[in-house]
Amino acid sequence: MNEEQRLQGQQVKPFKPLQPVKEKDYSQFFQKTPSLKDAKKRGKEEIEYHADFKIDERFAEMGRGRKFYIRTYGCQMNEHDTEVMAGIFEQLGYEATDEVTEANVILMNTCAIRENAENKVFGELGHFKPLKLQNPDLLIGVCGCMSQEEAVVNKILKTYDQVDMVFGTHNIHRLPEILNEAYLSKETVIDVWSKEGDVIENLPKVRKGQTKAWVNIMYGCDKFCTYCIVPYTRGKERSRLPQDIIQEVRELAAAGYQEITLLGQNVNAYGKDLPDSSIGLGDLMDELRKIDIPRIRFTTSHPRDFDDYLIEVLAKKGNLVEHIHLPVQSGSSDMLKIMARKYTRESYLELVRKIRTAIPDVALTTDIIVGFPNETEEQFEETLSLYREVGFEMAFTYIYSPREGTPAAKMRDNVPAEVKKQRLHRLNEVVAEYSAKALKKLEGEIVEVLVEGESKRNDQVLAGYTRKNRLVNFVAPKEVIGQYVHVRITEAKTHSLAGEFVEVVSKTAEVK
Ligand code: 5AD
Ligand code: SF4
Repeated sequence: MNEEQRLQGQQVKPFKPLQPVKEKDYSQFFQKTPSLKDAKKRGKEEIEYHADFKIDERFAEMGRGRKFYIRTYGCQMNEHDTEVMAGIFEQLGYEATDEVTEANVILMNTCAIRENAENKVFGELGHFKPLKLQNPDLLIGVCGCMSQEEAVVNKILKTYDQVDMVFGTHNIHRLPEILNEAYLSKETVIDVWSKEGDVIENLPKVRKGQTKAWVNIMYGCDKFCTYCIVPYTRGKERSRLPQDIIQEVRELAAAGYQEITLLGQNVNAYGKDLPDSSIGLGDLMDELRKIDIPRIRFTTSHPRDFDDYLIEVLAKKGNLVEHIHLPVQSGSSDMLKIMARKYTRESYLELVRKIRTAIPDVALTTDIIVGFPNETEEQFEETLSLYREVGFEMAFTYIYSPREGTPAAKMRDNVPAEVKKQRLHRLNEVVAEYSAKALKKLEGEIVEVLVEGESKRNDQVLAGYTRKNRLVNFVAPKEVIGQYVHVRITEAKTHSLAGEFVEVVSKTAEVK
């Protein structure tokens, strides 16, 4: 059965691809392949804010009778971009599917942060090749952070001819035009902007779930930590206007969402690029805490920009949770200097002291990299001792992975791979010890849990998180999914809690 017959079977006319519509001159951004050199540049030009996203009516039939599948890798920012792309697909008339074999468009929303994340994507692309032979209508696309890397795009062009389109993080709003070009073209369509574009406020979204929602507060990162690819793949820091963020959170509260996570690569830099640069994350949080939504979190923080006013606002609590994820990366001031983190072990500990003074019951979690080039045993031990000194409740730990184009990738490295693995293992033992210790204290206590759904391992058990983001498993009727409940903790495991359901809690945000 050819494509036309297949669609006739479904009583829909096939979409005829159109010649691309040129509404705006994209030539300043458009390149055949991305350039890391351009991605590094930080211009002074002001960001424009638009609310003019609209599906061109000539694309309205594009998705009729077709299904899309998006696989997402990496951080919450990517998860949220997937929600936006799903929104665009639905406006184009496509239907979502969880089965790759049913899809007419497969998108890989990729992560570039470490090499193993990239290898997974290349492996998957290999598996998709047979699907292309079964379904000639299938389009395969690669988007997200990997697409912003020159080397990746070149590798796709050379080795993965099953890929029909590659687009980056700055132009997901161009998805309709990119799909159209891919239907038209026999060649791989590459539309990657090395320079970030404007902020578009009215992109559609299909949110995953009705309980928790992500809200972008800023895009990009200007910190240029020497190991990190993000400033190249996500562009310069661009804050959304406070009124747009407040409006979005209000709408989510009115729609019944129970928890908001504010997103940005470096949320503490919020506002620095705005025309009214006196607005910071503290001011934004002080406004958001007045909205009637029970919990608000943010991620990810950079210790360098974490100011006293933000601490003062967070100490007001109410719907601002007492959990802060504060990536430290290393406990050695020498390592931090080479990583260009722009703080020292001492200044990090001072910040922790200030936070703890203002919010005594705060839960602190962190990110740590081991095996950065030339890290000595003593420097690694400083990381272990800092971990114990702060008493983090949990950490994401990684072995350093060189990223092409970053300054650290050029550093000679004398640490053998085996030593790096052992360090990760030793660190993870400390992480497990402290996590278990923090959870043990909760045995016998009653905690408040936002119920997210069935546990991944057992559908008879429900799972949810506390204000401090601790995972709790318990048995209760399925009707409590999406609500706040009290659970009595019966057993602390290493990274989660087990408990008994007590009661449903009726919840509105208490603003103090
Ligand atoms: N190698 C290993 N880990 C990295 N991270 C960022 N870049 C790298 C890299 N090149 C880690 C940092 C960051 C987290 C999101 O990923 O710990 O906080
Ligand atoms: Fe990467 Fe550093 Fe920016 Fe975080 S703050 S995204 S680690 S460059």
